[in-house]
Amino acid sequence: MKRTSHITELREIITMERSRGRKIALVPTMGYLHRGHLALVERAKQTGAFIVLSIFVNPLQFGPNEDYSRYPRDLERDSNLVKAAGVDALFHPTSEEMYPRPIVTYVEVGQLDTVLCGAMRPGHFRGVATVVIKLFNIVQPDLAFFGQKDYQQYLVIRRMVSDLNLPIEVCPVAIVREEDGLALSSRNVFLTSEQRQEAKVLSQSLNEAETCLRAGERSARVIEEQLRDRISRQCHGIIDYAEVRDAEDLSEVTIIERPVLIALAVKFGSTRLIDNKIMEVDPHV
Ligand code: PAF
Repeated sequence: MKRTSHITELREIITMERSRGRKIALVPTMGYLHRGHLALVERAKQTGAFIVLSIFVNPLQFGPNEDYSRYPRDLERDSNLVKAAGVDALFHPTSEEMYPRPIVTYVEVGQLDTVLCGAMRPGHFRGVATVVIKLFNIVQPDLAFFGQKDYQQYLVIRRMVSDLNLPIEVCPVAIVREEDGLALSSRNVFLTSEQRQEAKVLSQSLNEAETCLRAGERSARVIEEQLRDRISRQCHGIIDYAEVRDAEDLSEVTIIERPVLIALAVKFGSTRLIDNKIMEVDPHV
């Protein structure tokens, strides 16, 4: 596995692979990798492309009171994991390499970035879109892989790629969960054992919502109330949001008739967890 923190060196590596006829796949991450990230690598490997995995904790996407400085980092452990997983090149730039001077050019994806996590974390998706387009420009991948746990992020990137005519296929990869249902996240390490126990209520409440929908419930408000009720009864977490939204454009939904995103964000102490489920509805039920 090649490994570099320099943009010029990475470009040389990629140019060489491209001249050999290889497609390039990008797996952008912030490191502290877990099985969810490795599932992205696994999917990328299936395409036969040359896989570049980036690790960069992007300061631009953290608010002033968020966890940028305490975000978990362990480059050597990550490097060993991705090497074993079959990544071809690891790119781990410093902040100076990515932002040699204060940035004044941003990418903003309207509408999608003002709801759910966008409403709670102003500027977050602008930071994500800006760093992702920088990574796209550096790597010029044919394919890029994003986990569906960050479903809103996936939609933001997909829209950016479409609006700006970027010749990149954006590939979503399903959420990977612990045995008890908790979605894998680098932030799970911050949970106390009590919070970790309680956090399984996120996936449980989503499963309950799914059961309810399958049984014929079509009111988004009823589903949302059930989610809130279950979460507040079963844990000490503070709900940021528990919402049913259109799965394509995140618009508000009253009666569920098209595929929807059921999305949750809950704070356990200072650790904020998100989870979601995409649900298609059967028009005959
Ligand atoms: O999902 C993440 O880890 C980050 O938001 C990303 C896409 C790597 C951009 O910093």
